[in-house]
Amino acid sequence: MTKVAVVTGSNKGIGFAIVKGLLKRFKGVVYLTARDDAKGRAAVEELNKVGLQPAYHQLDVTDRESVTTFRDYIREQHGGIDILINNAAVANTVSLYNSYEDNKYVVDVNFFSVLTIQEILYPLVRDNGRILNVSSDCGHLSNVRNSYWIQRLSSKELTVKDIIEFVNWFLEGVKGGTFNYDDIADGGTLAGYRIAKVALCALTIVQQNDLASRNISVNSMHPGFVKTDMTVGRGFYDVDQAAETPLYLILEAPQDLKGAYVWYDRRVLDWYDYKADYYFKSKEFTK
Ligand SMILES: NC(=O)c1ccc[n+]([C@@H]2O[C@H](COP(=O)([O-])OP(=O)(O)OC[C@H]3O[C@@H](n4cnc5c(N)ncnc54)[C@H](OP(=O)(O)O)[C@@H]3O)[C@@H](O)[C@H]2O)c1
Repeated sequence: MTKVAVVTGSNKGIGFAIVKGLLKRFKGVVYLTARDDAKGRAAVEELNKVGLQPAYHQLDVTDRESVTTFRDYIREQHGGIDILINNAAVANTVSLYNSYEDNKYVVDVNFFSVLTIQEILYPLVRDNGRILNVSSDCGHLSNVRNSYWIQRLSSKELTVKDIIEFVNWFLEGVKGGTFNYDDIADGGTLAGYRIAKVALCALTIVQQNDLASRNISVNSMHPGFVKTDMTVGRGFYDVDQAAETPLYLILEAPQDLKGAYVWYDRRVLDWYDYKADYYFKSKEFTK
């Protein structure tokens, strides 16, 4: 049976570099996917020029119809997925404080889309498969400064409902003008992005519990500060360097690494350590 790997949002940036790395190291079919067909096909051509042959399919993670069409295609062509990397995301890094509409968009793409993927694509992930949620330092629990939510997100009985309520607490607060930005580290800079990535890390733990009986691993990770369009070209890593830890996690890490939060240097961190210094500092980004 041919093995199948899928990377969301892989027409550029870290996702593109992960596809490139998989094409060199993974024995199976590697799907480059993109929300924009023209950009996706251009990325495939770029890889073809260096002798690499990804498979391609359109996939907009916020569009249920697109995810369903992709699911049907993969089921028909291959029957299942062995590796799934939830990489697609957006951030408005031009401004550190954003409107409700901007925050809603960020949360929809970076968090709610993974619920759609979970519902529609996870049933296709084969037993012993691997799922990686590309998060951020913005996803560590130390980004949250509200004691009620720290406690609730730390519960061993955490559910998807809890996580959705956390995200909606933020969105409703911003919409109504009542959100206290001191409930988020660093004065609440890039609050929507942090909320979405914290929610994604929390969701990783719930997803891992759900999929443990099929020996599927689900981990989240921070790829480092990486020179991509998202950071307007700033960072200490290029995309190929940044792809190394995701590739390690998906191809080489022990299968019993499960529900973990992994730093760009492969260290497994305690996600629950809300007093730790792992949260994102906007000063480092803007200097
Ligand atoms: N760069 C960093 O320093 C950094 C740090 C921490 C975490 N991360 C995380 O690393 C991952 C990759 O980021 P990056 O820096 O490589 O960003 P990037 O260069 O901006 O690439 C993001 C990718 O996601 C795609 N995308 C956005 N919305 C989508 C949607 N609705 N459906 C499908 N694809 C969609 C984009 O497609 P388009 O080309 O169509 O926009 C693009 O291919 C993200 O999860 C990000 O949050 C990055």
